[in-house]
Amino acid sequence: MRHSSLVVVANRLPIDDSIAPDGACEWRRTPGGLVSALHPLLRHTPATWVGWAGGTGPAPTLPDVDGVHMRAVPLTAEDLRDHYEGFANSTLWPLYHDAVEQPEHHRRWWEAYQRVNRRFAEAAAEVAEPGAVVWVQDYHLHLLPGLLRAMRPDLRIGFFLHVPFPPPELFMQLPRRAELLRGMLGADLIGFQRVQAAHNFAQLVAKVLSLPATDRRIGVDGRVVRIGAFPVSIDTAEMAALAARPDVAARAQRLRQDLGRPERVILSVDRMDYTKGIEQRLKAYSELLASGHVKVRDTVLVQVAVPSRERVGQYQILRERVEREVGRINGEFGRVGEPAIHYLTQPFDRAELAALYRVADVMAVTPLRDGMNLVAKEYVAARVDDTGALLLSEFAGTAAELSQAYLVNPHDLEGLKEGLLAALHAAPADVSRRMRAMRAHLHEHDIRAWARSYLSALDETGPLVRRLVSG
Ligand code: ADP
Ligand code: F6P
Repeated sequence: MRHSSLVVVANRLPIDDSIAPDGACEWRRTPGGLVSALHPLLRHTPATWVGWAGGTGPAPTLPDVDGVHMRAVPLTAEDLRDHYEGFANSTLWPLYHDAVEQPEHHRRWWEAYQRVNRRFAEAAAEVAEPGAVVWVQDYHLHLLPGLLRAMRPDLRIGFFLHVPFPPPELFMQLPRRAELLRGMLGADLIGFQRVQAAHNFAQLVAKVLSLPATDRRIGVDGRVVRIGAFPVSIDTAEMAALAARPDVAARAQRLRQDLGRPERVILSVDRMDYTKGIEQRLKAYSELLASGHVKVRDTVLVQVAVPSRERVGQYQILRERVEREVGRINGEFGRVGEPAIHYLTQPFDRAELAALYRVADVMAVTPLRDGMNLVAKEYVAARVDDTGALLLSEFAGTAAELSQAYLVNPHDLEGLKEGLLAALHAAPADVSRRMRAMRAHLHEHDIRAWARSYLSALDETGPLVRRLVSG
């Protein structure tokens, strides 16, 4: 059994299902912010990643990926249904995203959540060397810090929540609210995307557990748990270098040609998720086409919406509605060889995504609620010539950092239409000024800066930070 001084625990392992004949296995950079964030950090770092390899049944033994050891945790069909699809993605996910869909509560989902958290905790405890840092990721694993601390008090435990942490009045709906808070408090440091989330957490801990809590520190069982905002980011330099590659620039030109050389290309790239505001955006676009403010000959919308959590009912309904609406809009406004919307549901490799970002004059990122939204940051990083307008929802964590974007409230249909028109018709000098400021911000606040600030707060003695964020 390999032991590591750094253990990352996340619901998913970051690997592809396919293993080459020589036993090699590749990082999976398919849709999802968590792997996008951690991939550039952990590559070539001696660490163990504990997670689920997809599928049900016994856990596979996996080869290392770029020096990172993969420790698979098995899930049964029941675990998958009740933990991943149930408690994580039908109770917590909608509740944490402003309950834009109705959260469901089932007692057997809670049993599965406990059971799976315990299994992940046992796997982490097995692979962590004495005094190791264990970094737990996201809402699938709220109980893990508490369980792990009871098993291995020698460990330094971090917890980072990639999604929003809701206001008390929403969180209070959870039948198991006290257990969830207690579980998180097993960590030494709890990181959130936004200051408001840390504030919500402190308020809840004081109210539900009657513990002394400020927005920075909480006292529990004679320990101090620190909390704070650590907005996650991307490998800005890597995306900029990719976008600047001649083959990517050539691909972007080719894409524009294939799109019929429109004056304006609008792009959206989302997981197919009801939090992403896809339906609202399509409605706004359709109304602009109907009113003649946008013409199919001059402007095209490219909507990339890769399917996600496909067995969950709310996601199935969303996909059907989106596809019906895209069909309706194309039927009503498209012309032969000139669809109003180019709709793509495939996962793309990084170079193709960079080419798409380069071809987009306007990037429409309009979630109803989003912890951060790395797509918006990737777009900015890819605009190496300081062109391109970012239309950004006020309800994305990104908006707190990229205030120079064209900000909109996606719940306000008229505001959304006005924002889209403003971004489409903005003066080039204004667009460049905003883009320059956003790019400068992201070059300073990239993924390494994020890891440095989080890990130096967690591991104050520092060797881990030096190892992870050097270079
Ligand atoms: P979330 O974590 O909710 O999925 P983010 O915007 O933070 O949202 O992260 C999405 C990540 O998935 C980004 O890194 C983006 O590049 C990637 N992604 C989204 N759609 C695709 C796609 N069709 N193909 C490949 N990667 C994608
Ligand atoms: O950002 C939230 C998140 O759940 C991440 O943990 C993950 O990267 C992404 O959404 C995709 O979700 P899933 O693992 O359910 O496909």
